[in-house]
Amino acid sequence: SYETYLETAEWLLSRTKHRPKVAIICGSGLGMLAETFTDQETFKYTDIPNFPKSTVQGHAGQLVFGELKGKTCVCMQGRFHMYEGYPLSKVTFPIRVFRLLGVEVLIVTNAAGSIADDYNTGDLMIIKDHINMPGMAGQHALQGPNDERFGSRFPPMSDVYDRALGKLALDISTELDCSNLMHEGVYCMVGGPSFETIAEARLLHKLGADAVGMSTVPEVTVARHCGLRVFGLSLITNKVTKEYDSTEAVEHKAVLSIGKMRAGVVQNLVLELVGRVDLTPTRLQDIQEKQIQ
Ligand code: HPA
Repeated sequence: SYETYLETAEWLLSRTKHRPKVAIICGSGLGMLAETFTDQETFKYTDIPNFPKSTVQGHAGQLVFGELKGKTCVCMQGRFHMYEGYPLSKVTFPIRVFRLLGVEVLIVTNAAGSIADDYNTGDLMIIKDHINMPGMAGQHALQGPNDERFGSRFPPMSDVYDRALGKLALDISTELDCSNLMHEGVYCMVGGPSFETIAEARLLHKLGADAVGMSTVPEVTVARHCGLRVFGLSLITNKVTKEYDSTEAVEHKAVLSIGKMRAGVVQNLVLELVGRVDLTPTRLQDIQEKQIQ
């Protein structure tokens, strides 16, 4: 309920001096970004009232507050997955807490397998849209009674990923000399925890997915519902095989090792993005739009 989110937000606000405007969720093997925060304050998930606990390998399970490139941020080191058995209300619980903390922008990274033919392991994909496979099958993060204080009953999802932030990330990748790794594509969420069969991989390819993973969509759906701007980035940790004669089989270990290999690039990209994300003009624009109305 609203009161539960509020209780957690107030607990955090009374224990940290930081007032974050940007929230960052780090995917498998990409959680080191928070270690570059200055003036860090850290809270273990196990200590935060109402917070779920994370169980998957490679996830630290803590909330880190601090300054990054002059912006106050909060970072989730470790996220909650549907395949761990959490209801989606738990998976997305932190998002509404962030909203109540005053966060305006959500940056999400994840590890994903490639479905698109021209992606390689180690490539990066700016998420331009998603397919909410669990949602379409009746497991949706916004299922149940709607609280209008967060957002509307039937929120649009035709503009989930902020175009300006995507463009900014592309520009940054050129400056960082890693534009050769970049793609813009469609992320498809599956429930997991098993990786795709070949028939499933072929199905996702036909449906227009470029990458597939087991996270992100519930969080960004709830974030858009409550008005956050969203940027999502997938690290391609493996190619999903679509051929019966292939001997490739994906392993979680490989996912983590590619994460380690590219962590630096992902970190630099997000770092620059945070530095340049313009929080104030957007709000001024909102005010102007309201005045025109
Ligand atoms: N499939 C689903 N989720 C994933 C994959 C994959 O191939 N790689 C990393 N997360």
